[in-house]
Amino acid sequence: MPGLVWFITGCATGFGEKLVHDVLGRGDKVIATARNASARLQTQKEAGAAILELDVTGTQKTLDDVVNQALKIYGKIDVLVNNAGYLEAGFLEEVGEERMRNVFSTNFFGAINLSRAVLPHFRERKTGTLIFMSSYTVWEGQPTPGAYVASKGALESAVLCLEKEVAPFGIKTCTVISGLFRTEIFGPRNMKYGAREIPAYAEGNKWSDSLVTQMYEHSPGDPAAGAARIVDAVKSEGTAKGKEVPSFLILGQEALDAIRARCKAMLKICDEGESVAQSTATGAIPADQAETKSE
Ligand SMILES: NC(=O)c1ccc[n+]([C@@H]2O[C@H](COP(=O)([O-])OP(=O)(O)OC[C@H]3O[C@@H](n4cnc5c(N)ncnc54)[C@H](OP(=O)(O)O)[C@@H]3O)[C@@H](O)[C@H]2O)c1
Repeated sequence: MPGLVWFITGCATGFGEKLVHDVLGRGDKVIATARNASARLQTQKEAGAAILELDVTGTQKTLDDVVNQALKIYGKIDVLVNNAGYLEAGFLEEVGEERMRNVFSTNFFGAINLSRAVLPHFRERKTGTLIFMSSYTVWEGQPTPGAYVASKGALESAVLCLEKEVAPFGIKTCTVISGLFRTEIFGPRNMKYGAREIPAYAEGNKWSDSLVTQMYEHSPGDPAAGAARIVDAVKSEGTAKGKEVPSFLILGQEALDAIRARCKAMLKICDEGESVAQSTATGAIPADQAETKSE
């Protein structure tokens, strides 16, 4: 699939930065965006990317304006990668509503609002691909990234619906369920956490901090390889040769393990709860639960 124009958010570091270089290396065009783009996207610009300033938490009007500006550069956008995101760490009780809303502003509303800005163009052309970055933690649940996981879980759920809404217009969605990759997400500049005021969580926070340091230094995933798999999937090249853009792209062993474990656990819950679930249509106590009722 030659000659695509990509619009990518959060290109200063990590997956975003690697995506820019991979896409350019395959001969496609990129509009790379970031906060403080002129200072932070110099390498990407020198490699051939067009650069634009974009904070995904801007108003819908701001996002619409940036997309209109982007459309003037190459005359079209074929792929939007909603990559910008950050990790808010902390026990949910301690994180509080404001910080939780902030992480949703970037990870959930940023991605949905920017997609809303691009969709009229995609609908008009009856083509386009929307990429969303999610996390294996949505499938596993862990103590302390709860606010982040909630924002990514909301995104995954919204995209399940969006996929069906936009398919009639020839538009594809792909949710990348990522495992652990060596990017700046766990780094001191990008990761966020608020005041720690509840003594009961002090030990848990210490454990969380040491885990974050370990993940920052030793996450197994190579972001350049992860970026290459995403580009393969969109362009039906390399590891995805001859395949349609998938609804989900799993990256990393820990992502595979988490999804498999959750699916197995849910299947067991379905099997064990089948007769009870079905009994709600008639109200009759299922035969295999009669014993339970008389106790
Ligand atoms: N690495 C992993 O293990 C992992 C796992 C699961 C999912 N992911 C997802 O992968 C995506 C990319 O993250 P990464 O791992 O590459 O981490 P990263 O190196 O920290 O990159 C994230 C980028 O997002 C940008 N960003 C944050 N808030 C923004 C905003 N409001 N507007 C525009 N840009 C913003 C940051 O830009 P600034 O430099 O301006 O802050 C940063 O360059 C994220 O959505 C993340 O949730 C990563």
